Amino acid sequence: MDLKDAIYNRRAVRAYTREAVGESALRDLIDAAIQAPSAMNAQPWVFCVVRDATMLADISRRAKEHMLANTPAGLLSHHLDLTLHDPTFDIFYGAPALVLICSTTDNAWAVENCALAAGNLMLAAHAAGLGTCWIGFAQSWLRSTEGKAFLRVPLTIQPVAPIIVGHPAGSTPAVPRKAAEIRWLGVEH
Ligand SMILES: Cc1cc2nc3c(=O)[nH]c(=O)nc-3n(C[C@H](O)[C@H](O)[C@H](O)COP(=O)(O)O)c2cc1C
Repeated sequence: MDLKDAIYNRRAVRAYTREAVGESALRDLIDAAIQAPSAMNAQPWVFCVVRDATMLADISRRAKEHMLANTPAGLLSHHLDLTLHDPTFDIFYGAPALVLICSTTDNAWAVENCALAAGNLMLAAHAAGLGTCWIGFAQSWLRSTEGKAFLRVPLTIQPVAPIIVGHPAGSTPAVPRKAAEIRWLGVEH
């Protein structure tokens, strides 16, 4: 698959078959992730992989509870409030694997480094016929002391990008993009 195809046709996939994603496929995606640039080439990342369905369900439940308990009243939309209260809502959409990209530092570029790695991983997955979706719903609990204990990572590790990976069940339509707002500075047009 050429790069343009991957960039334009990758989608946030929210429906997966039950087929597992093998270790070697996940290793390939992580290898693509670590080709990303990082500030001063520090490569300050670590990848936590969860493929156990019970663990994934546990994280989903705890993440929903954490969001409900920690989002200030009035900031949750009615729809989101209903969704998070729904015990059947799986924030991971039944995906068989979660790759959580964590920063080993909390310096100024922790998020940027891991987000670039996440972008590579999602494009590489698409090129390999796999679906992905960044699950922001999982972030605040995974970053909590309880979340880090669950992951068995030291408190110094910063979870940044939870990316689910699986075999897409069907196709995902593209969502529209707004026209880019471009401000050409210093040149007359
Ligand atoms: C930082 C970030 C957090 C996201 N969190 C969620 C999430 O919690 N649940 C979800 O279904 N999609 C989530 N998404 C996916 C976006 O909704 C999706 O990328 C966007 O709607 C554009 O669709 P596309 O990726 O198919 O182009 C997240 C994406 C990003 C970049």
